[in-house]
Amino acid sequence: MTFAKHVAIIMDGNGRWAKQRMLPRAMGHKKGVDAVRRLVRAAREMGLEALTLYAFSTENWKRPEDEVSALMGLLKGFIISDLDEFAANNVRLRIIGDYKRLPADVAELIEGALARTAGNDGTTLVVALNYGSQDEIARAAAKAAAKGAITPEAIEAELDTAGLPPLDLLIRTSGEVRLSNFLLWQAAYAEMLFVDTLWPDFTPEHLQQALDQFAGRDRRYGGR
Ligand code: IPE
Ligand code: IPE
Ligand code: MG
Repeated sequence: MTFAKHVAIIMDGNGRWAKQRMLPRAMGHKKGVDAVRRLVRAAREMGLEALTLYAFSTENWKRPEDEVSALMGLLKGFIISDLDEFAANNVRLRIIGDYKRLPADVAELIEGALARTAGNDGTTLVVALNYGSQDEIARAAAKAAAKGAITPEAIEAELDTAGLPPLDLLIRTSGEVRLSNFLLWQAAYAEMLFVDTLWPDFTPEHLQQALDQFAGRDRRYGGR
């Protein structure tokens, strides 16, 4: 039995969840935030070291402006409403992706939340914002080159995820079977799980089932 320390989730299917109910897409995103809140609590209670959530990709800027601003509004609301709970429960917030390019008010809130939870050493909640793996790897390679040789170790040390435990399990909801530019480097030997559940319907029980499945897998890393 192996226990997962670091789980990442591609939270997909908010739009389809809303569509099935003839609701506006923003309502699906709102329910998606409720699912995030439940999952962060569960991850903390289960003692996960790190939970990484894909919230906004470098490609998501292609969506209509009203959807992008609804997502930014929800993100702000989430930080404002949940930061006290993180702070009180030893949750450390970390961001991967180029979050400084988000709207200034959002970026400022994030800075405050990072500073407030920086001393915590419980579960790390990693939120991927304006994140694209290709962008991350390119930035890391440039930094590695500026310091010397471009080796896998040197790149890894410059990735946005540097210092986090290695990725154990990558989950994608909503039935899509692709990575959509998420953690391409880190997923090299991660276990993957694709589930049909739409993100707003994803519960702590689903996470527990995923962890149980993970525990039964045989990871060989190319050896035997
Ligand atoms: C995932 O839900 C949330 C984000 C990408 C921000 P989607 O909005 O992609 O939902 P679907 O894929 O259209 O159902
Ligand atoms: C991936 O979902 C991004 C996030 C969950 C934030 P998308 O819905 O954007 O991915 P594609 O477009 O279906 O590949
Ligand atoms: Mg989607």
